[in-house]
Order: sequence, then C-alpha cells, then structure tokens
Amino acid sequence: MSGVNEIRSAFLDYFRKEGHEVVASSPLVPRNDPTLMFTNAGMVQFKNVFTGLEKRPYSRATTAQKSVRAGGKHNDLDNVGYTARHLTFFEMLGNFSFGDYFKERAIELAWNLITREFGLKKDKLLVTVYHTDDEAASYWKKIAGLSDDRIIRIATSDNFWAMGDTGPCGPCSEIFIDRGEHIWGGPPGSPEEDGDRFLEFWNLVFMQYEQVTKEERVDLPRPSIDTGMGLERMASILQGVESVFETDLFRHLIDAASSALGRGPDADAVASLRVIADHSRSSCFLVADGVLPSNEGRGYVLRRIMRRAMRHAQLLGARDPLMWRLVPALVREMGQAYPELVRGEQMITETLKLEETRFRKTLVRGLGLLSEATEKLASGDMLDGETAFKLYDTYGFPLDLTQDALRQRNISVNLAGFTEAMERQKEEARKSWAGSGDVATETVWFPVRENAGATEFLGYETEQAEGLIQALVRDGKTVDSAGKGDAVAVVVNQTPFYGESGGQMGDTGVISGDGFSIEISDTQKKADGLFVHLGKVANGTVKTGATVELKVDHARRTRLRANHSATHLIHEALRELLGTHVAQKGSLVAPERLRFDISHNKPISPDELEEVERMANEIVVQNSPVTTRLMSVDDAIAEGAMALFGEKYGDEVRVVSMGTGLHGAKANRPYSVELCGGTHVRATGDIGLVRIVSDSAVAAGVRRIEALTGEAARKHLDEQDKRLKAAAAALKISPADVPARVEALLDERKKLEKELIEARKKLALGDRSPAGVPAENETIAGVGFLGKAVSGVSPKDLKPLADAGKKSLGSGIVVVFGARAANNARRGVAGTADQAGRVNPQHLVGGAA
Ligand code: GLY
Repeated sequence: MSGVNEIRSAFLDYFRKEGHEVVASSPLVPRNDPTLMFTNAGMVQFKNVFTGLEKRPYSRATTAQKSVRAGGKHNDLDNVGYTARHLTFFEMLGNFSFGDYFKERAIELAWNLITREFGLKKDKLLVTVYHTDDEAASYWKKIAGLSDDRIIRIATSDNFWAMGDTGPCGPCSEIFIDRGEHIWGGPPGSPEEDGDRFLEFWNLVFMQYEQVTKEERVDLPRPSIDTGMGLERMASILQGVESVFETDLFRHLIDAASSALGRGPDADAVASLRVIADHSRSSCFLVADGVLPSNEGRGYVLRRIMRRAMRHAQLLGARDPLMWRLVPALVREMGQAYPELVRGEQMITETLKLEETRFRKTLVRGLGLLSEATEKLASGDMLDGETAFKLYDTYGFPLDLTQDALRQRNISVNLAGFTEAMERQKEEARKSWAGSGDVATETVWFPVRENAGATEFLGYETEQAEGLIQALVRDGKTVDSAGKGDAVAVVVNQTPFYGESGGQMGDTGVISGDGFSIEISDTQKKADGLFVHLGKVANGTVKTGATVELKVDHARRTRLRANHSATHLIHEALRELLGTHVAQKGSLVAPERLRFDISHNKPISPDELEEVERMANEIVVQNSPVTTRLMSVDDAIAEGAMALFGEKYGDEVRVVSMGTGLHGAKANRPYSVELCGGTHVRATGDIGLVRIVSDSAVAAGVRRIEALTGEAARKHLDEQDKRLKAAAAALKISPADVPARVEALLDERKKLEKELIEARKKLALGDRSPAGVPAENETIAGVGFLGKAVSGVSPKDLKPLADAGKKSLGSGIVVVFGARAANNARRGVAGTADQAGRVNPQHLVGGAA
C-alpha cells in the first residue's frame, strides 16, 4: 500500500468507513471565493459549509483535493526544486467535520490512521499545537500517549491556519515525523526547523472562527474540523525516500523528462528535472481546469510556471519544446484519479507546445542579454531593475524567472528599479489613450482598466462565481456607491458573464451581495479586456469593494450556447454543399434565434436549405463532444480552422471543433473547426435540433439565413403541425392527404373558372346562341351593324364575343361594349371579311358609342 494511487485510496476508504462522504476534488479555480487565486487546500470547497451559508446532506466528508500554491497567501513557487518537500501542485488529503466531531475525535481518527493503517512508528512522531491550546495538548497526551516534549507549543501563525485574508480559520495542530539524524534540520520552533529532517505531513485545523474582514473575526456557528495531509509527503514517508521527488509518481515523471532530454538525472540536472516535473503537473492541471497562459491574473501565474520550467529545460540542453512531451506520462500516472486530464489531453498538449514554441523565440536571446548584463556581477550583487524590466517587457521573462536564473549565483534583482521602469511604461500608455479622439466618449473605462486590470473571464467553465466589485459607473462617471433604481455599470475582478463579441450577445443575470442585488441586462467588453455588466440596482445599496455573487441567467445562456454551436454547423454545411466561397459576413447569436449572413450570389433553393438542415442535424445526433484548443492564429489557419474575415484576433486563439465528418474529404475528421471565443454546448446533442426558418437577400451577393434550435425549433415545428392539422380538419381528411387534396381543389377551381367564363359569355349575348341574335341588327350607311352592351364579361373576352356575333350578322360590323359608361367603355369590335377595306370600323364604333 505505498504507491501514491494506493495511499490516496486507502485514506479515502478509511474515512468512508468512519462515516465520511467521499467528495470529488473541486476545480483549481475556486468558484466560491473572490479573492483566492487558486484552490490551495481541501477546505476551500467547503468554505460556506463551515460558515453555515451552505447546507450539504452530510456533516462529515473526505476528499483528495487538487491544490496549487503559487501566488496568493500560500506560495511555494520559489522553493520548488530547492527543498525536498515543496511543490506548486500537490494533492491534499483531508477529512472534514461540519459541526459534527471536534478536536478529540479528529485527533483520535488521525492517530489511528497513521499508526494502525499506515504503520508509522510512534517514537518517530511529534506534534505541534497553538501555544494557548491546552485542550489539544491534553488530547494528544491522552489518545496518543505523547510525552510533553513531543507536543510542541507554537505561538506563530504557523499554528493558526487561514485559507486567505478572510474566511474560516482556527488554531491548528501539525503532525511531524523525524526522518533521522542523517538529514539536516531541527524540530518545529527550533532555529533549524526549515531543514528537511522533521517533516510536517498532516495539519489538523480546529475551525472555530471566520475572518470577516482583516479586522473582524467572528465565531463559526459550530466548531468544525478541517485537515490537510500532503499526499506526496506521506508517500515519501511510506516509501522510505527522502524527498517527494523520489516517490513512484515523480520518479516516473522525471524519467519521462530525462528520456525526452536524452540525459540521465545526474547531480547537475536534479534540481532542474524536479522543477520541470513539478511545474508540468501544475501547468497540466491548471489548463485542464480552464486556465490559459496570459499576461494577467491566474493566466500569468500559469505562464510564469510554464516559462520557469522552460528555462530549466533549456538549461538541460533542450533545443525543442519539451513540456508537451511529458503529458502522456502524467496522464498515465494521474488520469484515472483525475479524468479531466484524459479529457483535456489534447488541449493541454497544444497549449504547452504553443507557449513553449513562442517563448523559445525570445528565451535564448533573453538569456544572452542576462548573462551579458551580469557578467561582471559577483555573489551578493544586484541586477539593475531596468534590465530586469527589459527582459520582462521585450523578452517575456517573468520577474521570478530572472530571479530564479540568478539564484544559484546569489545575485538579486533591484525590485524598486523594476517597479519604476514598469510605472514609466504605464504612464506612456496613459498619455496615449487620454489623447486618442476615437475613444473619447468611453474614456471613463481606461482608468478603470488600469486600476482593475483585465477582468478574468470564468464563463467557459462556470455560470456562477464570486467576485469583488472594482468599479461602479453611473451616468458616465465612476462612483463609490449606487442605490435602488440606479442604472449602473459594474466591473468585477472575475466574472462568468460573457461580454458581447463575435456575434454572441452578452449575458444577463443577477449580481448580488450583502443586502443588495443588481439585475444585469447586458454585458459588454470595453478598453481591452474589461467586462462591464450593465444593469439596474433592484434593491439595497451597492458599494465598490463589495464581495458579490455573480449568477448568469442559465436558461438564456443555454440557448445562446446552442445557437452559437448551430451557427458553426450550418456554416460548415453550407460550405460543403455550396462551395468554399461561402464565407460568413456577420452573425447574431441571440437566445431566441440565430442569424447569419453569408456571401453567395444566388438564391439558395429549398432543396439546398433542406439538405443544409439535414447535414447540421446529422452532427447534432452524433452527440460528439465540442472541444476547444488554444493555438497561434497561423497554426490554426494552417490546420484548416475557419477564421472570420475582418475579425480581430489576438496572438493566440481559441479553436472550437465539433462533430466528425461522415463523407468525402471530411470523413473521420473534425466536421467544423472555427476560430471562436464564444461559448458553446458541451456536446452537439445539446443543440437538440436545428431548424432553418428563412433565407433572404440582404445585399448584392449576401444571403441571410435565420435558424432556430432546441425548444424554439420544436415549437416552430409544432405550430406548423397545428396549422396543417387545422387545414386537414377543415377539409375533413387526414393531414397526409392535404397536399394532394389542395392540388386537386386548385385544378377543380381552374376548371370551374373556365366554365364560368363560358356561361357568362352566353348570358351576355342573351339567352340565345350568338347565331340567332338578329334583334339589334340594323343597317348603317348600307353596312350591317350589330351593337351590344354587356356586363360581367372580362375585357379580354369582348373580342371573342364580337367574333361570335359575326356569324349571325352574315355581313357587317359587330361591336360589343363591356361597360355602361361610354367614356370608359371597353369594347370588342369585329368585321366580316367582305367589309374589309370598305368601312373603317372605328368610325362606326364612334357613332354607335
Ligand atoms: N487546511 C489545512 C491545511 O491546508 O493545512
């Protein structure tokens, strides 16, 4: 039972048997805390359960929690590779009591596990307690039988655990193992405590308080328990190795790295290999949880981790991107416990490769500059801030990468100089936006952007999250607060709300906090990366700095996702059917429908539209996962991803693929591959149904297609069905017979119309046949004349009627008038053959009229 995977299972099993619910790890990006950069402990997902805000159907739980400690309150980044126990990514095993058992039982459960199940020797173990916690000390004595010298009282924050600046907290008791005199280090509280001899492997936190603000601490509703055991540390103990990097899991990762590098883990390489192994774990897990490298916030911490590892790979002689080649080994080791690694393998691999390929371009040159600039420096010297800033700004060296590179030579960086150079650059940027006329109306957003930084968008992964209000804008001006009824724009540090872009409308929903709520009716993007929530304060007073809960209107977003994904499917189907000249000319992804304009210079036939709809639905029923990858624009286009003309893309783009082609060149290949920042369904089946409802021309060579999906498409079909049924009922036949019956009725109607005309003609000339119509005959100037005024005969039938009159007249002229008023009378005129040339009929007619 000493493999990492076995220890994890044994821990969870033990607590399951002790009545704990086994709960899955929560994501590394916390949804329920606005201030925490990464999930840094098992208790994070239970934060609101401890404070009583959230109820769960169990009062005891156990987890193996993915944790990252790089950035924020708990940050181990700088120690990794240089100690035997620090990691940026680690698994924390924990048991939790929410107002159930407290100190005594927690100590008992822990002691039994480590001594009975894990078989640790009592004489190697010692514990710490918070200096005032007599109670905990007495339990250790009673339950574990530890002597006083093995229960060490600590007065510092080391024995008062807090997740962050705010949140649940309490005194804690840590369990240490003495690994033997051969390792340097002293017991906790001694001057040598930082050594690796005495290893802390489990922390029992007696959760009693909630830190509400920096100054205010209140009691939790009920005393609770939160514990955290480092899985990797426990593995190193049970496997009898001195460092976490020598455990089975890390050995396999380090072997993969050294074989990819073609060099063994010799003494010179050890530290770098350890950094690479640790950093590749945190990078892969962060990408799997939706963090992508960027220049701000979480994305920047990820970028720092990745680039640090890349420098170490470079140190070991890597000439090509390396990190992505370690992904399969990690998936093998940890994919079973964390299936998100398996699901995200492609995305992870490509993200690592892209970042490394891009950074390699400047890494080598930057390192050259660094060695030149430090050539004359000796141990204890300082690199000037200007150079460190140049490395940061021009060569993409995060500050800590530069510090890490100089660490071995004991050279530090002039931090004040670095900050000064950074400020100067910001000042330049301020001047340029302040003076640019085209953004004059919106200049309010630039200072907000500068103070707040870019908003972190969480909406690919979640529709609900906590955030901190960083700015409120009312009537075009920043304000500190807004009250009920105010129309207000809200900027928050992180948001799940999608800002309108790429044709997809912005999200709506609710932002609420202590005593207030804001109805959000739209979300827009401003000033290069700010998400601005537009809404109205529904109640209470909202203030900047407030912690808020952001909740996207889920039903509306679900429809938006379906419509956006359907747009991609229809787009591809049109290209396949009509040709690749078809390009999207604009689109609107609204919740109720989708609309897009394409270049195509002739109408699309009903048959073609039907085929497009069929093709799109073929991919819908595949129900295949929709995948997103991050790539450079050039690579994405080289791979055949469709980029939209006129759209502005960053250096890196999201590439959304869906469906598997069934025919032709696309057979067994991704069906639709598009550059897209929008939000999509998880699998094509979520679209439900695609229904094209109209096709029209909007400009020369541009056609507009409108379509519906899911419930809207079903409703549309339902309405059409109802109409058909109503027609069938009126005709008293079955709906299936309606088309044939309508056709037959139209034929019959045509026939009847013809007959009606004939009958009217007859009627017009009296009830006798035209052959016997001599009554109105007269002779004018020796020429026979038949004149008749008729009604109910269509003008085009007047001439045939006049011709019919000739027979009865024998010789002469026939005039038939179609209306009574002479001035607008229409007439049919006919003359018999013997009169041709003798009389001008029009003269006769004039007289007769
Ligand atoms: N929450 C306990 C620990 O992280 O040590």
